[in-house]
Amino acid sequence: MNSAQRGQEGTAYMRARQLFATILAAAAIGVSGMAFAQAARTPAETVDYRHEQFRRVGATFKALNDGMRGSPDMAAIRSNAATLSQLAQDLPNWFPAGTAAPVGDQNRAEAAIWSDAAAWNEQVAQFQTATRNLAAARDIAAVRGTIRGVGARCTSCHRAFRTPD
Ligand code: HEC
Repeated sequence: MNSAQRGQEGTAYMRARQLFATILAAAAIGVSGMAFAQAARTPAETVDYRHEQFRRVGATFKALNDGMRGSPDMAAIRSNAATLSQLAQDLPNWFPAGTAAPVGDQNRAEAAIWSDAAAWNEQVAQFQTATRNLAAARDIAAVRGTIRGVGARCTSCHRAFRTPD
């Protein structure tokens, strides 16, 4: 290899490094952009957003229970179980400080969520564990064994932190 070739190799190496640095910078902007999108939600938008998210929780859990009837499709059940577990892991982000709101049809979140954070966090943690166990189920018997535990968490948290039906 002569010095001109070495020089070319060095330039290629520098280009690769620059490209890599650019990709890293773009990734960092992507992440902070996402954080900004979350922070940019107004309290009123957050109230609507979390109601929508809970409707997804409800729809996903209903699909799971409906799917257990007849001859269950394990692939569909596992997909819904994974979605439910992801929603449960994300749930704490739906309740930023300062987003308690007057309760009504579109907001059934009780103020105790923020004033009794310890009890709330316990409910969230138990829901996350129950949905993780369900998502880990590999056959119908295991789904049967864990789905009731999830249902119990819905009821328990609603009794404590959602306005009565
Ligand atoms: C950690 C507490 C908690 C858990 C666990 C929980 N929920 Fe809820 N849920 C709430 C709160 C608080 C609201 C009210 C939110 C709102 O109105 O924006 C709510 C609202 C809902 C709604 C919206 C409809 C309405 O008008 O209230 C549905 C549907 C729902 N939950 C279903 C479920 C199901 C199904 C599960 C279990 C798979 C579940 N939730 C688990 C706290 C919980």
